[in-house]
Amino acid sequence: MVICYRLIYTIIFISFLFFLFMRKNHRRAKYNQLRLPPGYMGWPYVGETLQLYSHNPNLFFSSRIKRYGEVFKTHILGCPCVMLASPEAARFVLVTHAHLFKPTYPKSKERMIGPWALFFHQGDYHLKLRKIVQSSLSPEPLRAILPDIELIVRSVLQDWDGQVETTFHAMKRLSFDVGILIIFGGQLDDQYKKELKKNYLIVDKGYNSFAINLPRTPYHKAMQARKRLSCILSEIMEQRRKKGESGSDLLGSMMDSKDEDGCKLSDEQIADNVIGVLFAAQDTTASVLTWIIKYLHDYPKVHKLVKAEQMEIYKANECGNKPLTWAQTRSMTITNRVILESLRMASIISFTFREAVADVEYKGYLIPKGWKVMPLFRNIHHNSEFFQDPEEFDPSRFKVAPKPNTFMPFGSGVHACPGNELARIEILVLIYHLVTNYRWEVVGSSNEVEYSPFPVPKQGLPVKLWRISDDNKQ
Ligand code: HEM
Repeated sequence: MVICYRLIYTIIFISFLFFLFMRKNHRRAKYNQLRLPPGYMGWPYVGETLQLYSHNPNLFFSSRIKRYGEVFKTHILGCPCVMLASPEAARFVLVTHAHLFKPTYPKSKERMIGPWALFFHQGDYHLKLRKIVQSSLSPEPLRAILPDIELIVRSVLQDWDGQVETTFHAMKRLSFDVGILIIFGGQLDDQYKKELKKNYLIVDKGYNSFAINLPRTPYHKAMQARKRLSCILSEIMEQRRKKGESGSDLLGSMMDSKDEDGCKLSDEQIADNVIGVLFAAQDTTASVLTWIIKYLHDYPKVHKLVKAEQMEIYKANECGNKPLTWAQTRSMTITNRVILESLRMASIISFTFREAVADVEYKGYLIPKGWKVMPLFRNIHHNSEFFQDPEEFDPSRFKVAPKPNTFMPFGSGVHACPGNELARIEILVLIYHLVTNYRWEVVGSSNEVEYSPFPVPKQGLPVKLWRISDDNKQ
C-alpha cells in the first residue's frame, strides 16, 4: 500500500516537473518567434549616446519616430532601450503592465539621493512610502500652508525687485523653501535651515557631474555633503524624539509610521526620502515656473487675460491686503489653462526610464528582460494627432480636456507625481503676486533652450523685475 502511494506521489511530482518544463519551453518558443522593434543600435557599447546628447534630444526622437514608427529600439549609455511614443504604449508600461517594468536610475544617482528613496522601489515598500508622502501633499495639509507659501513667494519677489536675476535661480530658491516647508512644517530652526541649504546646494552641484568619487571632484564633494545632510536630519529627528513630538509635517508622518509588525522606518530610510522629495520637487517646479514667466512675457494677449483674472481676486482681497483663499486658487480658470499649456509646451520631463523585469510582448514586438523602456512624454504632448498645431502656445486648447493618456506632465500609474497639487498651488500663488504687483522684462530674449538637466530657457532666463506703483495698477 505504502509503495503504491509513493508511486502515485512520484508520478504526480514528475508530471508537475514536466508541466513546468513544457510551459517554460512554450514561453521561450513564443518569445523566440517575436522580433525586436525596428531601430538602430549604433556603435558597439556607446550606441547612439553621442547622437542623443550632442543634439537637441527632440530632434533625435522625432527623426527616429519618422523613420521607425512609435516603437523603436536604440542603445544609450551602455543600455539597450525601447522608446515608446504612443499613448497606448506609455499606458502599457506605466499603468496596465507596470508590474513588468521597474524604475531604474544610474547607481551613482541612487547613491547620491539615497537608495531608500521611494522612486527607486516597487511593491510594498514603495506603496507604504507613497501613502505617507501622498497624504502630506493632499489638499487638506496644502490648504493649511497656503499662507506660508504666499509668504515665501512674496519674499522671493521682493528680493528680486529692481534687479536683473536669473529666473531659474530665483525659482529654485522658491521651490526649495516650499519643499522645506512641506517636510519640516513651519518649525525648522533657522540654523538647521541654513546648514541644510548649504549642503543641499553642494549635492545639487555634484548630482549631474561625472561619478568619479576622488577627492576634490564635484561628485566626491557632493557625496560628503550628502553624508552631512544625513547627520543633520538625524539630529533634527533626535530633538523631536526628545521633545516627544514628531510633528504633523512630512518628517513627522515618516517618523510615526509603523508597518503591521509595529516596525518603524529607520533614520536612514527617512533621510533618503526627505532628500528624495526635495530633489523631486525643486528643479521640476522651478523649470516650469521659469517657462511660465517666459510665456507670459512672450505672449502679451495671454498675459492680459491672466492679469484681468488675477486683478479681480486682488481687488476682492482689498488690493492684496487679505490673503489668498483656497477657494480663490480653485477659481483661476484662465490661469489654470496657462499652466496646463506651459506644462505641455515645455514638457520638462521629456521621458522616463523603466527596466523590463521579464521578456515582454508588446504589439508583436519583444522587449527583452533587462532592456530599458522609455515612454516619451514630450513626443506625445507634441503630436499633432492629439494637439492641433502643437508648437503654438495656445492655452485655450485646454477648454476641452485632452484625450485619455495624451497628457502626462506628472507621469501616470503607480509612480505618478504625488506633488502635482503642491506644484499647481505654488505656480498659482506665484502668478497671482507676479502679475498683480510686478512688471518684468527678459534681458537678451532668446528662444534657445538649455538642459540642466530639465529644459530651461537660455541662461536660466535673466529677467529685470520691478514693482508697479499702486496708481499704475488697473
Ligand atoms: C511642475 C512640477 C513637477 C513635475 C512636472 C513633476 C513631474 C513628475 C513626474 C513625471 C513623475 C513620474 C516619474 C516617473 O514615472 O518616472 C514624478 C514623480 C515624483 N514626483 Fe513630481 N513633479 C513635479 C513636482 C513635484 C513636487 C512639488 C513634489 C513633492 C513635493 C514631487 C514629488 C515627486 C515624487 C516623490 C515622485 C516619485 C513618485 C513615485 O515614485 O511613486 N514632484 N514627478
